[in-house]
Amino acid sequence: MIAVACDHTGFDLKGHVLAVLEEMGLPYKDFGTNGHGSVDYPLYARKAAQAVASGECEFGIVLCGTGQGVGITSNKVHGVRCAICSEPYSAKMGREHNDANMLAMGARVVGSELAKMIVRTFLTSEFQGDRHMRRVNQINKLDEQR
Ligand code: RB5
Repeated sequence: MIAVACDHTGFDLKGHVLAVLEEMGLPYKDFGTNGHGSVDYPLYARKAAQAVASGECEFGIVLCGTGQGVGITSNKVHGVRCAICSEPYSAKMGREHNDANMLAMGARVVGSELAKMIVRTFLTSEFQGDRHMRRVNQINKLDEQR
């Protein structure tokens, strides 16, 4: 299950992201928002991040104007490692090296086709473990000490 959330600026891009998930046959839970009316991105990113942190969802995808607001919010939730990406290389490395469990993108930064490519890359890349596990454990330790 993939958690998806956006603010008003990410709403149109969310449609493209959901289309990719459908194309990949991946079930998702849509935490809103569901229109162009102005909302506060932390309220929505938080819901998706908490669904990932609780284990209800394996991965999360969050969208706002820049990706920064929803990404920063998500990374405040215990257990979340959210990669803010505007190209596929970072999405691939975010999974392979950082075991990112959430992806944030900015609808004012990436076009819909690039965003779709980033989503596909993120969801088909796998954590490589080994020396990266040691580093991710160091991140997780910091998270536990908060
Ligand atoms: C909304 O105007 C905008 O601030 C928001 O979508 C996001 O880019 C914040 O990081």
